[in-house]
Amino acid sequence: MERVTTATFRELKARGEPIVMVSAYDYLTAKFSDEAGVDSILVGDSLAGNVLGYANTLPVTMEEMLHHTRAVARGARRALVVGDMPFMSYQASVEEAVRNAGRFVKEAGAQAVKVEGGSGVHDKIEAIVKAGIPVMGHLGLTPQWIYQLGGYKVQGRSASAARQLVREARLLEELGVFSLVLECVPWRVAKRITRSLQIPVIGCGAGPYCDGQVLVLHDLIGLTEKTPKFVKRYAEVGQIIKESLRRYRDEVKKREFPTLAHSYGTKRKKRTQQV
Ligand code: KIV
Repeated sequence: MERVTTATFRELKARGEPIVMVSAYDYLTAKFSDEAGVDSILVGDSLAGNVLGYANTLPVTMEEMLHHTRAVARGARRALVVGDMPFMSYQASVEEAVRNAGRFVKEAGAQAVKVEGGSGVHDKIEAIVKAGIPVMGHLGLTPQWIYQLGGYKVQGRSASAARQLVREARLLEELGVFSLVLECVPWRVAKRITRSLQIPVIGCGAGPYCDGQVLVLHDLIGLTEKTPKFVKRYAEVGQIIKESLRRYRDEVKKREFPTLAHSYGTKRKKRTQQV
C-alpha cells in the first residue's frame, strides 16, 4: 500500500478524481479513516473544541497538537498526514514558523503542515516551503483570525471580497503551497479559484466544484451537537454513545450487569482417578 503524497494530490487533480480528506485527532479514528480509503488526514486545530473543550481554536498549543498528530500518524498507514499549525506557532516570526513546522514532521510524523492566511503570513509560508516542508494553505473563513473577521461568517460574498480571495489564492500558489483549503466560501468563487489554480483546492463549505473535500470527522459522524449547513451527517454516533451509556447505567443500577456470563470462574482441580 503506497503512501499518498503531495505528488498524489497533483495526480488526483490532473485525473479529475476528488481528493477525500477528514480532520481527525486520534489513533483509532485515523485507522478507521485510513481503512476507509480517505486520502488525507488533517490533525486540525478544531481539536481545540472537539476534543479539549476550548471555546475556540485559539488556546490550543503546539504540545497538544503534536501529541494528537503523533497518535494520528500511528494510525494512518496510507493517508497523507497534515498537522495544523496552531495560533501563534507561526505568526510571530519566520524562524518560529519554520521551527514549529519542522516539529510536526520531525517529532510527530506528519508529512505536511497547514497554515491559515495569505499575504499576512506570506514570508512564513515561503520559508517553511523553502525548508522542504509541504504546506497546505487555508483561506476564506480562517478560525484563527476570528476576532479580525468578526465572527464565523461566509467569506468572499461581495465582488471585491471575491476578487481579494482569488488574489490571495494565486499568491499562495506562487509561494509554493501544494494545496489549498477554502472554508465557507460561495461555491461560484470556489469554482473560479479551483479552475484558475494548478494546485488542488480542497473545499470545506465551498461547494461541489473543488478538487476535494474536507470535513471534521466528529461532525460527519454526528459526535458534535451542532454542525454548520455545509456538513452532511452520515451517522448519529453521539446518540448511540449516549443511549449505550444510559443502558449501561440502568443495568448496573438494577444489578442486571454483569451476569455470570461476563464473569471469571476459578480453576477447578481435576480429581486424579484412583486405580
Ligand atoms: O481545524 C480543522 O479541522 C480545519 C478544517 C475544518 C479544514 O481547519
